[in-house]
Amino acid sequence: MLVNNQPYRTVWLEGSTVRLIDQRLLPHRFEIVGMPRHEETARAIREMIVRGAPAIGAAGAFGLVQVVLEAPEGPGRDAYINAGEALLRATRPTAQNLFYALDRVRRAFDGLPAAQQADAARAEAEALADDDVRQNEAIGRHGAELLHNGDTLLTHCNAGWLATVDWGTALAPVYVARRAGRRIHVLADETRPRCQGANLTAWELLQEGVTVDVLADNAAGLLMRRGEVNIVITGADRIAANGDAANKIGTYEKALLAREHGIPFYIAAPSTTFDLNCPDGDAIPIEERGADEVHYAWGWTDEGKMARVRIAAPGAGARNPAFDVTPAELITGIITEHGIIPPTRDAIARTIAKP
Ligand code: MRU
Repeated sequence: MLVNNQPYRTVWLEGSTVRLIDQRLLPHRFEIVGMPRHEETARAIREMIVRGAPAIGAAGAFGLVQVVLEAPEGPGRDAYINAGEALLRATRPTAQNLFYALDRVRRAFDGLPAAQQADAARAEAEALADDDVRQNEAIGRHGAELLHNGDTLLTHCNAGWLATVDWGTALAPVYVARRAGRRIHVLADETRPRCQGANLTAWELLQEGVTVDVLADNAAGLLMRRGEVNIVITGADRIAANGDAANKIGTYEKALLAREHGIPFYIAAPSTTFDLNCPDGDAIPIEERGADEVHYAWGWTDEGKMARVRIAAPGAGARNPAFDVTPAELITGIITEHGIIPPTRDAIARTIAKP
């Protein structure tokens, strides 16, 4: 998508360096950073320099290519590759795309002679990144059919192009509808504690010329009751075999509100986000993050410096689950690259091929 009218992807491999947009600095600074070794790529995922399930998956895939490139010839090779893969696997627990990507790249080079492994891993990781772009564009085409000129769409967190290799999931339909000449206005929940909605969703929509209002996380109920929201679309980090969907904390309550007010609530996700080995949402691992994210807020001062300020009473504890699960019965439909499907075990089994 466009940044200052230049097309970008969020993550790519240049030689043996993984290049990323540093999402911690947005919307204040646009900076590309390079991760020359797999340990740094793992750190970038853990510290959320790159975030969003499909973007994490692509970064993990390129990180595993780095592992193979770095691995010594001879007896220590397998142990090095296993340890590198384990490090990448342990970075973030909820996004299914990470595990899909690592399994896919691993399958592509496993069993090959050492001299052929790096080329095979690289080709597969590149194909995975290209597939992500194609899948999200298809999600955009299917989802755009739900959007009418003048609609107001509410979204939570960032499931735009920054969260994928390109196009986004929840926001791809907005981009497709806009290119078809329809005017769609977006309400972006700020998404405490890390504020991906205020920082990232608002920024990327504005780069594409889409109008957006940032909402405090607790404002959606009032606006829905007043009839100011036509549709809700969010992304997902993992979708269980029965259609329960894990996404950024706060998504569940938006789905409940949407149900109460008769507003359609859609999840947009590529097939790489489905985990058919998870029978239902209770089996999805939920990441718990540190207390500092809740105790403090951070941003940029008028002098252009990053600053962190304490907002919680000293001595208070904190709970910081990063995701919640929206039960399938609250979801109107799941927008996939294959079309919009009902959130049912049968439809998912028919649509999503088991890897
Ligand atoms: O913690 P984050 O910022 O990685 O969480 C991101 C989300 O919850 C997104 O909605 C999800 O990954 C879908 S991305 C297309």
